[in-house]
Amino acid sequence: MYNETVMEHFTNPRNVGEIEDADGVGEVGSPQCGDIMKIFLRIEDNIIKDIKFKTFGCASAIASSSIMTEMVKGKTIEEALSLTNRDVVDALGGLPAPKVHCSVLAEEAIRAAIEDYRKKSEGTRNSG
Ligand code: FES
Repeated sequence: MYNETVMEHFTNPRNVGEIEDADGVGEVGSPQCGDIMKIFLRIEDNIIKDIKFKTFGCASAIASSSIMTEMVKGKTIEEALSLTNRDVVDALGGLPAPKVHCSVLAEEAIRAAIEDYRKKSEGTRNSG
């Protein structure tokens, strides 16, 4: 059912874990299946310096999170925001049609984490 790239990222996922005192945290759930993806960001000078994820979900969701963290690490916030679930599916070399929704979690989770970062940094500016 899954191609080699998907299997490789599922069995050997990159950037798994948490970042303590992360600059941004995003958590999203899939309405289709209830799976959950959580992303932690370390951001310096508008660049994603570090990213970790925790995904309680299927193989596609784990592979999507893994490859997405590799795609946005070292990128600017704007570049990360332009990432779509299509880019994730393409990078994985394709997902079976019923599993495409799993890649949507990756797009939504990175956006939610960046939104959280922006909210937090605005708060710092206002109070400082
Ligand atoms: Fe739900 Fe894959 S089946 S994220």
